[in-house]
Amino acid sequence: MSSKTFYIETFGCQMNVHDSEKVVGTLIRQGYEPVATPEQAHLVLYNTCSIRDKAEQKVFNRLQQFKRDAGRGKVFGVLGCVAQQEGERIFERAPHVSLVAGSASYAQLPQLLVQIEAGNRRVTGLSLETDEAFETDFTRRDNPHRAYITIIEGCDKSCAYCVVPFTRGPERSRASASIMAEARVLAEQGFTEIQLLGQNVNSYRDPSPAGWDFATLLARVGEVDGIRRVRFTTSHPRDFTKEIVDAISANPVLCNQVHLPVQSGSSRVLECMDRLYTRDEYMRRIEWLKASPRNIALSTDIIVGFPGETEADFAQTLDLIDQVEYDSMFSFKYSPRPNTAALTFEDAIPEDEKQRRLLIVQERQRAIQIRRNAARIGNVEEVLVEGRNHALGQWIGRTSQNQTLNFTHPDTDASLIGRYLPVLVTRAGPNSLAGESPVM
Ligand code: 5AD
Ligand code: SF4
Repeated sequence: MSSKTFYIETFGCQMNVHDSEKVVGTLIRQGYEPVATPEQAHLVLYNTCSIRDKAEQKVFNRLQQFKRDAGRGKVFGVLGCVAQQEGERIFERAPHVSLVAGSASYAQLPQLLVQIEAGNRRVTGLSLETDEAFETDFTRRDNPHRAYITIIEGCDKSCAYCVVPFTRGPERSRASASIMAEARVLAEQGFTEIQLLGQNVNSYRDPSPAGWDFATLLARVGEVDGIRRVRFTTSHPRDFTKEIVDAISANPVLCNQVHLPVQSGSSRVLECMDRLYTRDEYMRRIEWLKASPRNIALSTDIIVGFPGETEADFAQTLDLIDQVEYDSMFSFKYSPRPNTAALTFEDAIPEDEKQRRLLIVQERQRAIQIRRNAARIGNVEEVLVEGRNHALGQWIGRTSQNQTLNFTHPDTDASLIGRYLPVLVTRAGPNSLAGESPVM
């Protein structure tokens, strides 16, 4: 086994997916070669998520699987949010791990790797002080058409349930000129879709004298020659301004899709969560979005079973879901996390009750999606062709609203991938659409 082969597995959100692209680029630059399986690799890295306990357990399960291989020339590293949260405790829980590094330390990876190569068995990068975590010249993007750009790192909010402020540190925004320069380079390289990333992407505040807010940045990225789609995630409702909606309304390059996590439909629970908005304030933002002529698709995150959530609170969440009629939703059972304020809250909801509420929410949302998707039959939607499902003989496309639209097309060679095509929607399920192209 070459001593400079690596394998990386990524858990968690798009920020993590993109961080892995930065790590892969750094490793290749250092002379490491990517391999397809952990078995083939000398260096095995896990880029981890700790948002809920289940996510955190995944990495320890993986590490357990390979425990026996540690002595046989394999080196294990834990990156990302579990690394930041657990720090050196990881060495105790999984003694065969040699590297523990949080996302703010990836710029130091070359030095950390030198220490590993020298045989050091306990190497850490855990400082949150750095602001060097943005793109590097050698980020290795997985998708040749869609590129992520980190515009803001960290989080200054303090939602009572959330571990992110501890795992990703305080907010650091990237200078607008640097973001614009990168967007232009990506367009020249042939990328046509840009996804702006941040834990609270819309809390962006340009640190340079230009002083752009998020709406201005979004509008400017949408004007870059060659860029046909721009998305952004994740928005915090408190910082979600009418100007963002106006920017989307004014330029079709800005995708008609917004993810706006509400977490709960009860103002009382929102206050306990320290979300910094009421139900009414959230609904005002939904009204702005619905008033746009762009037919903006809405999605959200919901937490059920937050400590003290009563039946009446829960009923308000269901009512809000009915009122908004989201196009898609991620729903979760509350999971207690280390360091967070909610750990000390009383009136924990029993597991089976959380499960019951989760199923009710999911069923309610599924019915809404079936209805909303069926209403799209007969529409012509532009898709970016992302791949081919050979078994079904269908192309896989994505609409501006971020829906999967699988479709038939007389061309079957790979040259369709990366193109933008109009597709007639002919069928609809709860989670995707199906259709035909070309449109006669
Ligand atoms: N328990 C359950 N869900 C959580 N989320 C964040 N923290 C927790 C937690 N402790 C959810 C929120 C957030 C999404 C990314 O994960 O809904 O928006
Ligand atoms: Fe998971 Fe949050 Fe870290 Fe993303 S930032 S990987 S969601 S804990």
